[in-house]
Amino acid sequence: MFEQPYLVGATWATGESECLPVHNPATGEVIGSVHHGGPAEAAAAVDVAAQAQRDWSKRSPRERSEILRRCFELISSDAGLADLITLEHGKPLSDAKGEVAYSAEFFRWNAEEAVRISGTMGSSPSGNNRILVRHPPLGVVVIVTPWNFPAAMIARKVAPALAAGNAVVIKPAPETPLTALRLGQILLDAGVPEGLVNIIPTSDAASWFDAAVEQQATRMVSFTGSTAVGRLLLARSAERVLKVAMELGGNAPFVVFDDADIEAAVEGAMVAKMRHSAETCTAANRFFVHRAVQDEFTEGLAAAMRDVVAGPGNDPNSTCGPMITPVAQGRIDELVKASVASGASVVTGGSSIDGGGYFYQPTVLANVAGDDPVTTAEIFGPVAPVIGFDSTDEMIAMANNTEAGLAGYVYSADLARALSTAEALEVGMVGVNRGAMSDPAAPFGGVKQSGLGREGGTEGIYEFCETQYIAVNW
Ligand code: SIN
Repeated sequence: MFEQPYLVGATWATGESECLPVHNPATGEVIGSVHHGGPAEAAAAVDVAAQAQRDWSKRSPRERSEILRRCFELISSDAGLADLITLEHGKPLSDAKGEVAYSAEFFRWNAEEAVRISGTMGSSPSGNNRILVRHPPLGVVVIVTPWNFPAAMIARKVAPALAAGNAVVIKPAPETPLTALRLGQILLDAGVPEGLVNIIPTSDAASWFDAAVEQQATRMVSFTGSTAVGRLLLARSAERVLKVAMELGGNAPFVVFDDADIEAAVEGAMVAKMRHSAETCTAANRFFVHRAVQDEFTEGLAAAMRDVVAGPGNDPNSTCGPMITPVAQGRIDELVKASVASGASVVTGGSSIDGGGYFYQPTVLANVAGDDPVTTAEIFGPVAPVIGFDSTDEMIAMANNTEAGLAGYVYSADLARALSTAEALEVGMVGVNRGAMSDPAAPFGGVKQSGLGREGGTEGIYEFCETQYIAVNW
């Protein structure tokens, strides 16, 4: 059993309040607990971060880069991080190991970017003045992260924030705080100066957040999570006109044309739907399949789903872990039942799996209508609704008929057709003949209500920078 203090500065603090329990979703059992903080602790952490940031911003980019590179090395070689992710999130150990590598890569990529933050110098049109533009850090960044990637979503934000010269105060998801706090220790071990990274779980997210963003030193909020919560954080951040980066919910279309390699499309569909136990915001949420290949694709997908082994992540045979909570499991079941009530048919799966954990049967639904609840909600579970289409225009209209616009997928043997469809989809990222697009070297993010800003790529680090213009006459 873990009893984990939280991190402010270099202090592992216990506070006075009772610990929050952490559960293993594969069994429902309590596996440990964390000490937590409220508004006072969040405010104090911003102060500590602000002090540390003053020194950090004066360090050379090369020094910052080398410390981040050391973070990459220590995260990559940490023996226990993947086990901890599996324990508190539930995902199969192979996925957890993939997440550790993914997390480490954010540090490697941003170690490389830290020395490449550049400005510009130009002339005014009159030719009389020089226009100098530089990108200093912002100050303190408040980071709020989800449970689906307990390490990677922190790494994706912390690495560029530090690379650009900022300090951070993190509220990890209450479901997965142990991974976050272990990551904090690894960063300290790698030489990240005390106070730059502060991690405080809380039982009172709203008060914690309010206190953190009220501090004058806080200059940015970076959030990954649901669109509903993102809207609340945006409204609150607006009161202090804070910079924001929001990675919010998705409703990804997965398009299969009649000329697609169906075997490859099924393989890609399984990745797009099922990676990390189907709990990703980029997960394929609606499968639009040309009627000429609908049966073949649906049968192939159902066969692949039947091969999925839903079980505890630490069992090497498991390929899909539990849902994170009984509430999440129940919500998925309600969506499936509502879809069936409105005419969809269950090809495979279709219900929760009884037992101690929060497992859901890998499910394929056919005859799904374009406006069925299962296609309008973000499923966040192993359920694949298949919708047939005849005309490309009709399919594009259905695919874009949502306020979400994070990711999409297109399968076709005709690259021109695939690319023109990719361009027509109102999403921030598209996989063409690929079931995954996540890459620290690429700009991750959505359009419409799926978010603001980009994480990763060459764009990512500038999200954590100011732009200062100096008018020069010499
Ligand atoms: C997410 O689900 O929030 C992130 C998915 C990814 O990085 O691949």
